[in-house]
Amino acid sequence: MPPRFAIIGAGKMGTALARLLSQAGYGFIGAASRSLDSARRACELVGAGEPTTDAPALTRSAGLVLLTVPDDAIARVCRELAAASAFGEGAVVAHCSGAYDSTVLAPARACGASVGSMHPLQTLATVEQAMQALPGSFCCVEGDPHAASVLSDVARAFGGRVMSIPTEGKPLYHAAAVTACNFLVALVEAALKLDEAAGIGRAEALQSLMPLVRATVDNIERVGIPQCLTGPIARGDVETTGRHLRAIGQAAPDLLPLYRALGLQTVEVALAKGTLPRERAAELREMLGQ
Ligand SMILES: NC(=O)c1ccc[n+]([C@@H]2O[C@H](COP(=O)([O-])OP(=O)(O)OC[C@H]3O[C@@H](n4cnc5c(N)ncnc54)[C@H](OP(=O)(O)O)[C@@H]3O)[C@@H](O)[C@H]2O)c1
Repeated sequence: MPPRFAIIGAGKMGTALARLLSQAGYGFIGAASRSLDSARRACELVGAGEPTTDAPALTRSAGLVLLTVPDDAIARVCRELAAASAFGEGAVVAHCSGAYDSTVLAPARACGASVGSMHPLQTLATVEQAMQALPGSFCCVEGDPHAASVLSDVARAFGGRVMSIPTEGKPLYHAAAVTACNFLVALVEAALKLDEAAGIGRAEALQSLMPLVRATVDNIERVGIPQCLTGPIARGDVETTGRHLRAIGQAAPDLLPLYRALGLQTVEVALAKGTLPRERAAELREMLGQ
């Protein structure tokens, strides 16, 4: 029998999970949030549950409490609820942060709860998009054995694919997620700035770059790294890279450190691919590392 659950923090993650878990047969007690409006919206979307700003009123009877507040609020909210003895004996208390691990929830253990974290490895921009994207996403689970087992069931219930990591691995795991997701956004922004400096309008630049970005992402999956790497560094075109550095230095010097750092990382991939001769790699490293 799935545990009855409450969400504290009725934002994108909390509201989407409430709806998906309710659809999967988990009894929804209700949503507590900072504002009653957010809690109401969540309960309306689920079609069940009590909306409130009084979290302890919900958590006392919950077998599963999901603290889906912003990362920086998780420790404080958990501490306050534990101090009010608002977690039931045997309950599972969890958060969905990628950066923090379950130790931030340690105060809940004093109430007899077990603690864990379940981080869906996904980017959620709105509640609606979150409801579509969460099924099929990998979910990184860690924590006390009982909590980890319940959270693995939770992830599978909404179609998530469970992956486990050691608790101490979370900062690096999350740095990897930020690198692949947020830095890709920042990288495309840098490419747009270079196009704009070349005289191409921003809208046209974005339109023209998207097929390239999509094909690159597809090739990473289909062809694999390092074989999918193309371009001047993979070919060992030292002079082309020199031309780039001179042009960026003149038109957009603030982007030079980024270009140099990623160029050096690209040299490593090209060497692994086997298309970059060692002496060219040394020239490129010297040119990019200056
Ligand atoms: N969004 C993503 O892409 C994503 C992906 C993976 C994991 N996560 C994780 O999911 C968690 C929630 O993120 P989110 O994107 O859903 O954030 P969000 O949309 O900003 O929602 C957070 C909600 O928490 C509520 N809140 C803030 N402080 C509170 C408090 N002290 N007590 C009760 N409620 C409080 C806010 O309330 P009001 O609306 O009532 O003001 C807000 O609705 C975070 O741990 C985040 O790291 C997010």
